[in-house]
Amino acid sequence: MNINKVVVIGSGTMGSGIAAHLCNANIPVFLLDLKTEIADKAKDRILKSKPPLLFDKTKIEKLKTGNIHDNFDNVKDADWIVEAVVERIDIKHSIYEKIFKDRKKNSIVSSNTSTIPLKILSEKLSNDDRKDFCITHFFNPVRYMGLLEIVRDEINDKNKINFLKDFCEKKLGKGVILCNDTPGFLGNRIGVYAMQVAMTEAIKMNLSVEEADAVFGRPMGIPKTGVFALYDLIGIDLMKDVLASFKKELSKEDKFQKVASDLPIIDKLVETGYTGRKGKGGFYRINKIKDKKNLEALDLNKYEYFPAKKIDLKIDKVNLLKLINRDDKFGKYAWSVISQIILYASSLVPKITKEYNNIDEALRLGFNWSMGPFEMLEAIGLQNFFSKIEDLENNNFLEKLKDKNINTFYDQRQKYTDIETLGKIKKNVIKKDKNESAEIFRFKEFNIVEFNTKANALDYNSMDALKNATDKPLIIINESMQFSAGVNLNYVMEFIKNKDLKSVEKFIKYFQETCKHLKYCKNPVISAPSGLALGGGEEILLQSNYVVSHTNIVMGLVETIVGLVPAGGGCKELLWRWTQTEKAKNDPDYAPLEVFNIIGYAKTATSPQEAKPLLFLDKNHEVIINRNELMPTARSLIINNTDMSASKKCSFKLSGEIVRKKMHKILEELYNEKKILDHGMTVGNELAYVLSGGDTNLNKEISEDQMYKLELNSFMKLIENKKTQERISHTLKTGKPLIN
Ligand code: NAI
Repeated sequence: MNINKVVVIGSGTMGSGIAAHLCNANIPVFLLDLKTEIADKAKDRILKSKPPLLFDKTKIEKLKTGNIHDNFDNVKDADWIVEAVVERIDIKHSIYEKIFKDRKKNSIVSSNTSTIPLKILSEKLSNDDRKDFCITHFFNPVRYMGLLEIVRDEINDKNKINFLKDFCEKKLGKGVILCNDTPGFLGNRIGVYAMQVAMTEAIKMNLSVEEADAVFGRPMGIPKTGVFALYDLIGIDLMKDVLASFKKELSKEDKFQKVASDLPIIDKLVETGYTGRKGKGGFYRINKIKDKKNLEALDLNKYEYFPAKKIDLKIDKVNLLKLINRDDKFGKYAWSVISQIILYASSLVPKITKEYNNIDEALRLGFNWSMGPFEMLEAIGLQNFFSKIEDLENNNFLEKLKDKNINTFYDQRQKYTDIETLGKIKKNVIKKDKNESAEIFRFKEFNIVEFNTKANALDYNSMDALKNATDKPLIIINESMQFSAGVNLNYVMEFIKNKDLKSVEKFIKYFQETCKHLKYCKNPVISAPSGLALGGGEEILLQSNYVVSHTNIVMGLVETIVGLVPAGGGCKELLWRWTQTEKAKNDPDYAPLEVFNIIGYAKTATSPQEAKPLLFLDKNHEVIINRNELMPTARSLIINNTDMSASKKCSFKLSGEIVRKKMHKILEELYNEKKILDHGMTVGNELAYVLSGGDTNLNKEISEDQMYKLELNSFMKLIENKKTQERISHTLKTGKPLIN
């Protein structure tokens, strides 16, 4: 079997997302809707999507559009037909009738339904056809969400299901979990239940919307959208439908019923058009007063909006035990929510899945939780949990654990796949070292460094960990969302507040020293990024010997946005790469001008395909669609002794003032067009000074160390600048750059 052509029927949110992702995998896809115009609009949406659904725009060439009346014969030679039309059984049934009349024998047909059981979808099919029919439940946005649930039953051709699982794992990069035909499968059953518990408990315990989101969020290893902001994001009307469907499908005794019923606030919001972000607002709204946008939150008692309050629980790192033992309303709320999630999830094993681990992985991949319910239980410790819980509610799973009188129970991670993932490999560690910002996992043939700060921002400790881990080949990789969002600016600003510039300089020097050490140490250093690799994060990539990159990355040297220049070797390394290009051989100013443009505009790449032309990534570096494969790929490079010596010594011949003048001309034009202001000029001038090589000419050779020095000097000048400090503070406070 092979999948060489796919037909996707329904070009809405999901159909277009699935089609786009098939294009990413270079698989020809035909996208059909009621009318060709609808599918064409979907194609437009794909091209304009942000964050982009395509790795790069050329991928769209694999997509053709059409309508179900004139173009249905495309089904005839398709290997896989995906139905992604509206959630209505009558419409779905009539489409299946047409598909199964036309499709070729051996093809696979699947539905993307999130709520209709497989047995109902397939009730009108012949037994033969049912063998080839299953549910493939993708998550939105398809490119970015790791989870794919395949729902199958006894009658299915097992070989075909395994083939499809393998295809979606290897070619589409999904974490594929095989599920039983139970309502909401795994992710939504527990994920939506958790949201409902978080919501109903907040109402019961009289917590405000902001307070609940501040607890049911980062402190629990859950994305910061929490529950109420997530409701707004998904759409309150859509959530209402989801709840209605759960109520219909689940037995009356199911605990889900209680948390999905009697929520007058939801009805009221939907009735008045407050359907969330796509409507007038929801639990939060943006209220424009005198051209200023103000974030407001709904008071759940008064049904009125008030300015949203920032709740700071003063928690840096996830520590569930500490959180549930807090002697305040936040601790009580956290315990109530977490304990109910654990009770519910464990009560469903083995009915919804034999593997409790599958539930955790579904929440990691489908909801971006950093721990699923069972990992939460492990983190709290069984004895701590049992000593706090009042009633185990005849929960078999938990009672068995209690009888064993043990404290930890978790065995393997990521059981859904045969891939030797990072999560699995960590269990075999020989020795583990850690500091405040990173962990070193030591194995026989190599070491791993995993950063673990917020967004993996880098500080002294992160550098220390890297430096101390090069006694063996080193892999820099992590399980959290981001590789690294850059240097920890909070950390830098603390020194600035204390007027301690010496410490800033010391830190940047240490950063440079570490990056240089990574580049030249005798053992290879491989970085394996996924998510953000910005600023300092990108500088680590640039100075690693090899990069194995996930397709979902955002790379760039974005320091100029906060009024700085890259100073960890970013200017130097990118410049070096550009000086090695064909065009640079005939024109000494070509490379500095290109890099001036890239760093000056803080250009970013949203995939390795975009990163390679900018030279953020080397053209030979590996690109991986399945994040789980990063670890084994990096490891096999080490085991196979792959030559990684490409990024060795560099020195520069730059024209100094000559190219600087050209850069100044560009800056002046931008200034005259008011595209940059005074401070932009200051930053641009510093960047020009670094990239032109400072006080030099084409007869002089500039060493790597001299380039580091130029970067450091300019960085120090800029960090002393009040406007730069203002920009950094603004970004730290709002998470957004200051636009002038
Ligand atoms: P949507 O409403 O965005 O798109 C549905 C599309 O189907 C529309 O373009 C419509 O014109 C088309 N359509 C309707 N009748 C048709 C027919 N007879 N033939 C061809 N096309 C037809 O819906 P969405 O959100 O993309 O959902 C599609 C499926 O995916 C549903 O089963 C839904 O439950 C499921 N799903 C949705 C998720 C989401 O986040 N939106 C997540 C996971 C699953």
